[in-house]
Amino acid sequence: MGALKLGPLELDTPVLSAPIAGFTDSIYRRTVRDLGGCGLLFTEMVWAGGWVQGKIEPDRLDGVTGEARPLGVQLWDREPEFLEEGARRLADMGVSLIDLNFGCPKKRIMGRHAAGATLLRDPGTIGKLVAAAVKGAGRVPVTAKIRLGPSVAARTAPAVARSVEDNGAVAITVHGRTADQHYGEPCHLAFIGEVVDAVSIPVIANGDIRDAESAVRTLAATGAAGVMVARAALTRPWVFREIAAALHGQTVPPPPTAREQKALLLKHHALLVEREGDPRGTILMRKFACRYIAGAPGTHAFRDAVARAQDSAEFHDIVERLFPVDDASLSACVADTALVESACG
Ligand SMILES: Cc1cc2nc3c(=O)[nH]c(=O)nc-3n(C[C@H](O)[C@H](O)[C@H](O)COP(=O)(O)O)c2cc1C
Repeated sequence: MGALKLGPLELDTPVLSAPIAGFTDSIYRRTVRDLGGCGLLFTEMVWAGGWVQGKIEPDRLDGVTGEARPLGVQLWDREPEFLEEGARRLADMGVSLIDLNFGCPKKRIMGRHAAGATLLRDPGTIGKLVAAAVKGAGRVPVTAKIRLGPSVAARTAPAVARSVEDNGAVAITVHGRTADQHYGEPCHLAFIGEVVDAVSIPVIANGDIRDAESAVRTLAATGAAGVMVARAALTRPWVFREIAAALHGQTVPPPPTAREQKALLLKHHALLVEREGDPRGTILMRKFACRYIAGAPGTHAFRDAVARAQDSAEFHDIVERLFPVDDASLSACVADTALVESACG
């Protein structure tokens, strides 16, 4: 499998890093970029209406202007004028691609704002939102990210995908669960396949991909043109290079050694402290640190302690005492995605 074309944007490899609110900031993206193998990275989702009306100054856009490309930014809203203006501003910032979120199952987004996955009930409205963003984006390609539907009883994804395509989006990402399924059961790959059959734009499959083998299996089962990874990459940010190698027919590289993984963790912390100061940087680092090696045997004590680290000195002390130095245990680490969700509560 080679490059993936998203309208005018050509990705070297069809492996994408998902938007993850609270995690995929510029420092996380730098870590992923440095490790290689990822075709396109996304920011966290940004509230277009809040930004356009001046209610928020989105710190989720920090770093976007100066960062390497390709870089995608994700917007969410249910008002066409806000998505149009948000897309126009992002195009002016020179982003590579603008994604629209129609999959968020969070109560605040679905309920109070009637956005995210609520919109999956209404393919026509989604079409208008896509058309507005495409108008604002000009030459910058627009994509959408959806779940299979708002509920198991309403699997609207094929109709939504057709509306997304008809209104000018260049690709669609499908997370293989409905909004009411949260993460409770495995992804339904056959239903992602139904979306692939419904449209001619590339479909990117998402959900439960944790390594090269699950990526290859997902592509074979769905017929999708690419894959997107979220939770597993919080534990193993080098997963992209493993998947990319497998898709390009190369030998899957070994994970970084325990010493290299420890260095990655310390560098991530140092960058956060440089940006945020201490103890704020350390406190922000807790959620990353306890996900880094979730699933590796014997790492419980490290996670427990690091989730309470109060400042830089304590963080370093915990890493020195409790981060495993044993390559065998860390290479046995298969990202435990359920654990990743609950790693720090
Ligand atoms: C903590 C968390 C935050 C997320 N934030 C976003 C987001 O901002 N935008 C989005 O489209 N999806 C978001 N997602 C969903 C993921 O991008 C992805 O669709 C989902 O986790 C399934 O992929 P995975 O099995 O690889 O984790 C989030 C998921 C988690 C666990």
